[in-house]
Amino acid sequence: MAQKEQWGTRIGLVLAMAGNAVGLGNFLRFPVQAAQNGGGTFMIPYFISFLLLGVPLMWIEWGVGRYGGTHGHGTVPGMFDVLTDRKKKWAKYLGILGVVMPLIVFIYYTYVASWMLGFSFFSLTGKYFGSGDAQAKADHVRTFLANYQNIGESAAVAGWMPVAFFAATMVFLGWILARGISGGIEKLALYGVPLLFVLAIILVVRILTMDPVAASPSEGLNFIWNPDWSSLGRSGVWIAAAGQMFFTLSIGMGSIQTYASYLREKDDVTLTGLSTAATNEFAEVVLGGTIAIPAAVTFFGVAGATAIAQGGSFDLGIVAMGSVFQGFPAAELWGFLWFFLLFIAGITSCVALASPTISFLQEEVGFTRKKAAGAVTMLGIGLGFFHVVFLQRGVLDEWDYWAGTFGLVVFAAIEIVLFAWIFGINRGWDELHKGADLKIAAIYKPIMKWVTPVFLFGMLGWWGYTEALPKLMMAGVEEADMPYLWLARLLMLSMAAVGIVLIKRSWNRKGLER
Ligand code: TRP
Ligand code: TRP
Repeated sequence: MAQKEQWGTRIGLVLAMAGNAVGLGNFLRFPVQAAQNGGGTFMIPYFISFLLLGVPLMWIEWGVGRYGGTHGHGTVPGMFDVLTDRKKKWAKYLGILGVVMPLIVFIYYTYVASWMLGFSFFSLTGKYFGSGDAQAKADHVRTFLANYQNIGESAAVAGWMPVAFFAATMVFLGWILARGISGGIEKLALYGVPLLFVLAIILVVRILTMDPVAASPSEGLNFIWNPDWSSLGRSGVWIAAAGQMFFTLSIGMGSIQTYASYLREKDDVTLTGLSTAATNEFAEVVLGGTIAIPAAVTFFGVAGATAIAQGGSFDLGIVAMGSVFQGFPAAELWGFLWFFLLFIAGITSCVALASPTISFLQEEVGFTRKKAAGAVTMLGIGLGFFHVVFLQRGVLDEWDYWAGTFGLVVFAAIEIVLFAWIFGINRGWDELHKGADLKIAAIYKPIMKWVTPVFLFGMLGWWGYTEALPKLMMAGVEEADMPYLWLARLLMLSMAAVGIVLIKRSWNRKGLER
């Protein structure tokens, strides 16, 4: 086997890992989750989730990734196999989740990222902004978004441009991915991540110095930063906070593990893993929390902003922000800065989402990196076609629920059992501390063995009990949409089935199966 690729520099690794975690989730999903769950009410379970789920799982995923990498595996099936000392045949098959889930998220996330490129463009040209009074302008942005999303009927407003931006995004990603770890992904992060922080800081300053409209910007900040301890008794808030923690840190996916598999055996994981988690939280609560929410509260008031957030990420990030920018001089420029920031945040996550599949195709199927990059790009375009055309049917949300929300908790639960119980917490602890620049506080040992698993299984039980069944039976879904959603599920299952066959073949061929 060819020598496994490696990261070029430590700063490059840190920026790539930060680019992996910092994404649309930080700037679009977080503000919506916070607003839907009462702002300060959300932040308490959110910080607790960071300490009890986010941080321990981040360390574990870095550790598992490096351990797998030094044993010749760049993806979760092989990593789960070595965590059981190759003694449990089932472990590698469960590991397919860590390849298929990021692939599915890749397929829709790239499409959403390409919208950001499209909106950057249409902000600059001014097409995104309407004219007339505030209401007319808001209506224009809303209609523009609906038309943009509705391929086939979009000709009137955007022509074939949404398709062109999607294609351009995919080609760009394919090119970066083909260039490899240090030559492609690391370079992209080296330029992209600092740029996204600069853009975000510029926007934060602009929003905080906004003239009061319905409220003042500081009222917007108060909304998020006033803790409400009574929220600790509300299970829905916990589920939302923990779900956001998974999504934003990119944990429970398989992607952190693949990035960490390009580490050397003696590279630090404890300090670097913690630093990238902290960097993501800075980007999320300080930057992400200070753009869309305060802007919407200032412009629409607390009640108005909360109502907008009920409509989801795109209502807040695209429609409401559009209205806010139209109140600024040089609206075109501000709109551009916002959407371009989102685009960069998005693509540095897209390459991370594609990486497990690329690694898998290289190691278990024998593709070259270029061929694997081409294959992932084709899969993204081919399968993406399905939700691009049937977006209104809810296909994208269906992918997002199983592979981007529910599945992460399932995956993390399996992973922590393998790490803390089967591999063993003592071995695991020593493994994490190889070459470590930071000694992890001893309290995290019982946390990893007991607290995090109980938290995860508790969530699974509660969530599975109250939500998964109605979801599975498609409660509340329109009859006419059901066939599309069943097809979406069938596609996900087929991807997993193909993965399982490939694993079996590969293990047989390498003679690893006994
Ligand atoms: N963390 C990303 C965000 O905040 C989204 C994401 C979830 C992700 N899982 C991932 C990105 C895996 C890369 C890899 O938007
Ligand atoms: N269900 C998500 C939400 O509204 C929508 C979504 C899908 C999304 N993919 C995304 C949001 C990527 C942000 C980033 O919260």
